[in-house]
Amino acid sequence: MKILIMGLGYVGATTGLVFADLGWNVIGYDPNEERLSALARGSLPFYEPGLSDKLKEHGETGRIRFTSDLQKAISECETIFICVGTPAKEDGSADLQYIEQAAVSIGRYMQDDKLVVIKSTVPVGTNEKVAAWIAGAQPSNISFDVVSNPEFLREGRALYDAFHPERIVIGSHQPEAARKVQRLYKGISCPMVLCSPRTAELIKYASNAYLAVKISYINELARLCDRIGVDVRDVAAGMGLDSRIGRRFLHAGIGFGGSCFPKDIQALIHEAHRHGTKLTIVEQAHEVNRTQVRYAIDLWEPAIGGFENKTVAVLGLSFKKDTDDLRESPSLAIIDELLRRHAYVQAHDPLARLPEIYPRTRVKQFETMEGALYDADAVIIAADWDQYAGADWAKLKAKMHRPIIFDGKNMLSGRRLRELGYEYWGIGTNAESIGPDV
Ligand code: UGA
Repeated sequence: MKILIMGLGYVGATTGLVFADLGWNVIGYDPNEERLSALARGSLPFYEPGLSDKLKEHGETGRIRFTSDLQKAISECETIFICVGTPAKEDGSADLQYIEQAAVSIGRYMQDDKLVVIKSTVPVGTNEKVAAWIAGAQPSNISFDVVSNPEFLREGRALYDAFHPERIVIGSHQPEAARKVQRLYKGISCPMVLCSPRTAELIKYASNAYLAVKISYINELARLCDRIGVDVRDVAAGMGLDSRIGRRFLHAGIGFGGSCFPKDIQALIHEAHRHGTKLTIVEQAHEVNRTQVRYAIDLWEPAIGGFENKTVAVLGLSFKKDTDDLRESPSLAIIDELLRRHAYVQAHDPLARLPEIYPRTRVKQFETMEGALYDADAVIIAADWDQYAGADWAKLKAKMHRPIIFDGKNMLSGRRLRELGYEYWGIGTNAESIGPDV
């Protein structure tokens, strides 16, 4: 059986390579010519640990190939995965235009039965829309099934997550179609959640929103910790030992970013409003996240005596470590906030490149950490790259104009850095400090 993957971003490329690894023959299609030809040449258009090797391996085994001939690919493949993007519209709702285009192409070009699987993150009810779009585009009536099978992988951990999922969610009203999707994952052992398409669609949004709420909860607690002289990391550790709470996603810092949480919680909030109800907790989690960078900068500003005309090294541009993805990166929000306060920025990231939009007279990117720290009045840790945690901070101190560390990821040891002669500030970790008003 052949599988067609429509949309070759993080989710599509990873899904295709995982199915190739599981022994299926996979064809990849993406309307973006540049992305498609890069993949066909064996080069991944984004960074994801381990994925390049898989691409090379299955280019050689021949179990994955890439095509721009969508019509032929649709007619050749019995199973089609829709993995296209669902970006946010201005009002926060999910833009389904790429989903619709994919569905219309499937309807137009299918010549026999198809199993269509939606992997993209989509609002509740999209499965039914996709079925209607396919049916509406068919020149003659051919049967098909549409199954919802959301993805839960994390950027930077995509391969690991894809091979070791904690659950696979399959939403379908047709038991036989659900069984077919289940069989595609042969060799992966984890709980299978068989449910209705609407349930599957909501499980995806509800999971991301829950994790976002958890992060905003600890970030808001961090603000309280700054006022009462308690270290939020100790609180999180103590809470996390309760297995009903769990330790993960209780890491306070400058807030969440990326292509998923910010977009998905807004889509879910919008969805609730559309149905005449409210998800107050999710709305507040969004609000805490929206103000978290400003909170951090306000908290740190007195320590440097105002950011105006100060040179600040910003370490980490991507929204988290092990990715070059800048989408909704809190680090860029930090740079924006520093520019508003008339600071100079010396940025560093092991992979990501500074976007063109910044005036080079104010914001420069350096190839090395040492370069970014040179003569800086303070350093802000803005992404949790291992190389920042493992840096030789004793040696780096000599490079800086003033040894002040603002740790936006709460990942360094304040006690050790203070021993080295640094002034150290985290978020909710400044036991004797009083936080600013937001
Ligand atoms: C997230 C989910 O974790 C995946 O399960 C989901 O499949 C994916 O979105 C998606 O919908 O496609 P991802 O955005 O790659 O994955 O990254 P996460 O590792 O979840 O981190 C998201 C953000 O939260 C990052 O900015 C991270 O730094 C921040 N974070 C995470 C915290 O601030 N504190 C924490 O304790 C955990």
